[in-house]
Amino acid sequence: MDKFVIRGGRRLTGEVIISGAKNAAVAILPAVILSDEPCIIENVPSISDVTISLRILKEMGAEVTCVGHDAYRIDPTTIDKFCVPYETARKMRASYYFLGALLGKFHKARVSMPGGCPLGDRPIDQHLKAFCALGAQYTLSQGMVDLTADSLHGNQIFFDVVTVGATMNAMLAAVKAEGLTVIENAAKEPHIVDLANFLNSMGANIMGAGTDVIKIRGVEHLHGTTYSVIPDQIEAGTFMVAIAATKGDAIIKNVIPKHLESITKKLEKIGVNIEQYDDSVRVWVDGPLVKTNVKTAPHPGFPTDMQSQIATLLTLAEGTSIITENIWEQRFRYVDELRRMGADITVNGKVALIEGTGKLMGAPVKACDLRAGAALIIAGLAASGITEIEDIFHIERGYDCMEGKLRALGADIEKVSFPDKTEEQTETAEDDKNKAAS
Ligand code: EPZ
Repeated sequence: MDKFVIRGGRRLTGEVIISGAKNAAVAILPAVILSDEPCIIENVPSISDVTISLRILKEMGAEVTCVGHDAYRIDPTTIDKFCVPYETARKMRASYYFLGALLGKFHKARVSMPGGCPLGDRPIDQHLKAFCALGAQYTLSQGMVDLTADSLHGNQIFFDVVTVGATMNAMLAAVKAEGLTVIENAAKEPHIVDLANFLNSMGANIMGAGTDVIKIRGVEHLHGTTYSVIPDQIEAGTFMVAIAATKGDAIIKNVIPKHLESITKKLEKIGVNIEQYDDSVRVWVDGPLVKTNVKTAPHPGFPTDMQSQIATLLTLAEGTSIITENIWEQRFRYVDELRRMGADITVNGKVALIEGTGKLMGAPVKACDLRAGAALIIAGLAASGITEIEDIFHIERGYDCMEGKLRALGADIEKVSFPDKTEEQTETAEDDKNKAAS
């Protein structure tokens, strides 16, 4: 088992380069299945969710070759299996994108149901509703989702909730369906637009991605393409907060400032200085940090995936802040760990009250999910003393070389292995790992 050991109190300064977006990459890689020719995907982040996606593609029969730093050539023409088994799917929530991609291409798919996960109930009813509207039938048995369709035809799909996953899956299934599909109440996240741009670069006809109505006119063939994944908005936001929490001054490169707007606005309210350039931002703090309130919402609102990080910053600010989590039921599980570091946070349902104490103290803590792990890293960087973070596999699912990038900014952080777990502890950790998915 690995853990991060952080000696806090160092200002982050210098430059950091942001990697490709996890939540775009985990949809674009399965989307390659839809192509009738090989594709090259660039700016793919080195994270374990990507490793798993590539492994699934290989297990299905695709040829996957690394063609340079963070780039892969994927030939989907050799795919001859249409199943993602439990053993692989349980490791990554986003394996549900193989449902839409396989259905869209082969009119059949068999994928393990995404398991329980640390963010609370994660239904896929809206995904199934979209597939059925396009002409598919499904069965659920022994934890597997089986999809079949004689043919797929365009239809109107209205989502009851704004959902990123179901919007992307509907796009994947509809892109080769006959006729026009109209998705209403669609999610508008940057990764939705990125998936649409990727599919269009293969010859698809998708309009309106980034608004709440997406129109897709089905095409018969999709051809090969070379495509570069957008920069990761949440990784960038996490570094913005880390720089602010250490009262640092650094430049974050390879970002799309427009994607960071809701994060930038909140940080400015807290007292963080931000200067935007074409594809980079400078972040620095030269005064006190002050309270603010945050409500998470689908894009362009404040992202739930930045909630734990900004909460950590607010423990260092003056005054009482309120955070309302509107997307996931169990996204305050990191609070107990932050309390161990001296934070004063009270949670009541979907609302957290943060009394800014201005300081945190190092402690041994445990990451309970990806963004909780990021929050604990930020806390450790800002705290006095030593913080040891366990279960960092959660962090490595979504952050590309987090500790290396932080070290380059001057942080004192190292990854160490500790082999001394009892059998029982190892089983619990394995169990946690299997539950972890997004
Ligand atoms: C995506 O999850 C992201 N994951 C999550 O990122 C992110 O937190 C979330 O979107 C919201 O932005 C990936 O992109 C791989 P949803 P997703 O479908 O698609 C309800 C991270 O830290 N819902 O937009 O699974 C659901 O319960 C992660 O990187 C239904 O009711 O989320 C939730 O309340 C974690 N029925 C809301 O919609 C459905 O069929 C939004 O979920 C689907 C969703």
